[in-house]
Amino acid sequence: MEEADENHSVLEVTNSSRDESNGRRAIFHMVIKMINKSRWKILGVLAIFLVMVGYIISREESFYFPLQDDKMTCPLGEVERKAAQLIANYTRDHPLFLQLKDYFWVKTPSPYELPYGTKGSEEILLRVLAITSYSLPESVQSLKCRRCAVVGNGHRLRNSSMGDTINKYDVVIRLNNAPVHGYERDVGSKTTMRLFYPESAHFNPKTENNPNTLLVLVAFKPMDFQWMETILHDKKRIRKGFWKQPPLIWDANPEQVRILNPYFMEITAAKLLNLPMKHLRKMKQKPTTGLVAITLALHFCDLVHIAGFGYPDSANKKQTIHYYEQITLKSMASSEHNVSHEALAIKKMLEMGLIKNLTYF
Ligand SMILES: *[C@@H]1O[C@H](CO)[C@@H](O)[C@H](O)[C@H]1NC(C)=O
Ligand SMILES: *[C@@H]1O[C@H](CO)[C@@H](O)[C@H](O)[C@H]1NC(C)=O
Ligand SMILES: *[C@@H]1O[C@H](CO)[C@@H](O)[C@H](O)[C@H]1NC(C)=O
Ligand SMILES: *[C@@H]1O[C@H](CO)[C@@H](O)[C@H](O)[C@H]1NC(C)=O
Repeated sequence: MEEADENHSVLEVTNSSRDESNGRRAIFHMVIKMINKSRWKILGVLAIFLVMVGYIISREESFYFPLQDDKMTCPLGEVERKAAQLIANYTRDHPLFLQLKDYFWVKTPSPYELPYGTKGSEEILLRVLAITSYSLPESVQSLKCRRCAVVGNGHRLRNSSMGDTINKYDVVIRLNNAPVHGYERDVGSKTTMRLFYPESAHFNPKTENNPNTLLVLVAFKPMDFQWMETILHDKKRIRKGFWKQPPLIWDANPEQVRILNPYFMEITAAKLLNLPMKHLRKMKQKPTTGLVAITLALHFCDLVHIAGFGYPDSANKKQTIHYYEQITLKSMASSEHNVSHEALAIKKMLEMGLIKNLTYF
């Protein structure tokens, strides 16, 4: 099915470039005639230049952006420009995932402990990173334009019929234990990356992800690395230290596992939520995986659209908050997240056009 779609787009590109090349030849002949008349010489040279520039631009566009949907054109550089307005010292230089080589000799230790840094967790990290990997798949790395959809778990996705739209994005980022199986019509089936922590890991990662989905651990505490190590090395499981029992058996391929660089958690807290990083110990509030996923996307995507974000009105106490389970906003009250504060941060990004919403936010 997917293959057929791809062939279809390739055909469209070939046809449209053939039309263009006929048009281009006609313009070229016209320009040559103009140049023959000497007084048109300067204008002619200018015209050739413009035709060449036009040719290059049109070629790139028809080659890279065969999708016809308006929203899916590629505004190259726009996310970077707008993100730099919002995030002081914005840079795309930080690796998305932690790598083993950075922990053999820690040259510049992180100033923060988890979840904002790796201070104090270096040893356990060495053991975890020895089994996991850090690369971005070639299929994502090589994209000329990375159009990303960050799919939240919000109730608004229910009966949304957004599945086909979501599947069209180059990169689809999902969160926590949100199921896909049985919900394809509303949430799609493609998952490029899934961000999670032990307590939010799906017990059956193989059925809810694609074989090549990156399983990205967002570590909130050192125990989270420990959990990953005991699972992947099949060591004795540790049950204490989690606020909810994480899976004891978790059937995932270690090659698909990544450890999110806590830099993105730091940026989310310090720059998107403006939390006082100097008073970390006193600070109860921590960003949600969803907001961290948006921050991550802002650092490697060329287009960031969100779906299924937002919570129901706080007055609506009976309304369920997720598309797949019957829990209400009440269950968020005891969490360390401040959802109204995050909503303001997301609204701001929507207003400045840094991100777009696919479902009502
Ligand atoms: C930006 O970077 C400079 C130089 O590293 C630093 O002094 C400054 O505090 C940073 N600003 C913010 C808001 O992070
Ligand atoms: C979704 O659609 C089904 C069938 O059309 C309907 O029974 C159900 O009530 C809808 N659910 C919501 C949350 O709107
Ligand atoms: C959550 O954030 C809002 C808006 O920034 C703030 O007014 C409120 O005090 C915060 N709530 C908690 C429990 O920290
Ligand atoms: C989100 O999208 C919906 C429709 O797609 C739109 O009506 C709404 O105004 C948007 N909300 C925000 C906050 O941008």
